[in-house]
Amino acid sequence: MSAFPQHFLWGAATAAYQVEGAYNEDGKGPSIWDVFSHQPGTTYQGTNGDIAVDHYHRVKEDVKLMAEMGLQSYRFSISWPRLLPEGRGTINEAGVKFYSDLIDDLLAHGIEPMITLYHWDLPQALQDEGGWEARSTAEAFEEYARLCYSRFGSRVQKWATFNETIVFIGHGYITGSHPPSVRNPARAIQACHHVFIAHAMAVKAFCGMQINGEIGFVNVLQPHSPLTQSAEDMAASELADAIHTHWFYDPVLKGCYPAELLAQSQALWGVPRFAPGDDDLLRNNRCDFIGLNYYRRETVSSQPPAEKVSGEQGVEGLFYFVRNPQSVYTEWGWEIWPQGLTDGIMMIKARYGDIPMYITENGLGAVDPIIDGEVVDDPRIDFLRVHIDALETAIEQGADVRGYYPWSFIDLLSWLNGYKKQYGFVYVDHQQNLARKRKKSFFWYKDVIASRGEQR
Ligand code: BG6
Repeated sequence: MSAFPQHFLWGAATAAYQVEGAYNEDGKGPSIWDVFSHQPGTTYQGTNGDIAVDHYHRVKEDVKLMAEMGLQSYRFSISWPRLLPEGRGTINEAGVKFYSDLIDDLLAHGIEPMITLYHWDLPQALQDEGGWEARSTAEAFEEYARLCYSRFGSRVQKWATFNETIVFIGHGYITGSHPPSVRNPARAIQACHHVFIAHAMAVKAFCGMQINGEIGFVNVLQPHSPLTQSAEDMAASELADAIHTHWFYDPVLKGCYPAELLAQSQALWGVPRFAPGDDDLLRNNRCDFIGLNYYRRETVSSQPPAEKVSGEQGVEGLFYFVRNPQSVYTEWGWEIWPQGLTDGIMMIKARYGDIPMYITENGLGAVDPIIDGEVVDDPRIDFLRVHIDALETAIEQGADVRGYYPWSFIDLLSWLNGYKKQYGFVYVDHQQNLARKRKKSFFWYKDVIASRGEQR
C-alpha cells in the first residue's frame, strides 16, 4: 500500500500567459509580459505568448485530454488583464466567461480547479502607475481578487494568491531579466512588501466574503546544501536559507518577516517601509495552506565559482550557487535531486508546524526524444517517479501533503527559454497547427493516478 491518503489529489499545472495565447482578443488588456516580450532581445529567440499553445481557443479539447488522463485537479492561473483590462474598474465579461466556462467544464469532468490569481502577468496599465512598487497595486489586487471570488467562489475551493514571489520580484527588480527590468535591491524589497500586503488583503477579503474553500500562497521550494562542511560554507548556506526561503515564507505563514534580516535590510536600505496597520494585516491574514514548487536544490559556497554556470548565482559577496561535482544536472543546469523534495517538505514542517501543503509544481524541462513519431519522454517519467517516491517518504514522515501537480499538463511557453524546454504530458506540434499529441508520460501518469500512486 502506498502512503498517499485517500483524499490526495493527483493533478497537473499551467499558467495563463504560458498557454492561453489570444493576447489581445475579446477585450483583454495588455500585460507586462505582452509589452516586454515584444521588445527585441528580451526573450529566447524573440518568443512570446501572443499565441502560446492556443489554449484559449482549444480549451475544450485540452480539458478532454485532462479527463482522459484521469486528472483529479487542475492548477491554472487567471490572467488579470483579461478580466480587468485596466487592472481595476471596467470588467471584461468575455474574460470572465472564458474562466467560468473552463471551471464548469472541469467540474463536469470531475476535475477540481485550483486557481492561482497571479502568475506574473500584471496589467500594463498598473505597471504604468508604478507596478508593485506602488501600494495602489496591492489595492487593485484586492479588487481583482474580490471579482474572482464573487464570480467563481461558489464553484472553486482551492485558491492561491501569488506564484513564486522570489522569481518575479528577483528577476523583475534585481537581475532585470523579467519585466519591469529594474536592477535595484531596495526597490525589489519594497515591491515584494506590497506583494505580501496584497496577499494579506486578498486573504482578508476571502474570509470576509465567506468563500467556502482554502486560500494559500505558492513559493519556490529550494533547499540549500553547503558545498563543504567548512564554517564559511555552512554560514553561507544558512544565509541563503534566510534570504531566499525565510524571507518569502515567514510573512505568509508566520505573519511577520524574519526579525534579524528585517532589521538589517531597514538599516542598510530603509526598506521595507511599513504603512500604518501593515503589521496587523500580515499577522491576521495568514495562509490556509502553502503551495511548494520544487525543481532542484542549490549547493552553496562562500566563494564565487571558478567558472560561471547558467541559472541562479546567489548574492554577490554573501553566498554563491555552485555546481556539486558529485551530482547530475539537466541540460539547463538544474540539479536532479529528489531527496531535496523530502528534505524541503520536512524543513517547512519543522519551521512552520502542521501547515497543509500541496506540491504545486515539479517537473523536468527537456528536449523530448521523438522516435517513429512518438514522444518517448522516458527521462521525464524517471524524474517524476523518483520525486513521487521522495514525496511519499515525506508523507510517511508525517508531512500533511494533500496533492501533487506536476509542471506541466501540456508543453507550454517557458518565460525565457521559449518552446525548446518541454515539461508537458501532452506534446504540441508547432509545425502542425499546434496539434496535441499524448506523450509516453501521459499514459504513465494516467496509470499512476488510476492506481492512486501504487503503480509507478
Ligand atoms: C516556475 C514557474 O518557476 O518554473 C513556471 O512557476 C515555469 O511558470 C517553471 O515555467 C519552469 O521554469 P522554466 O524557466 O524552465 O520555464
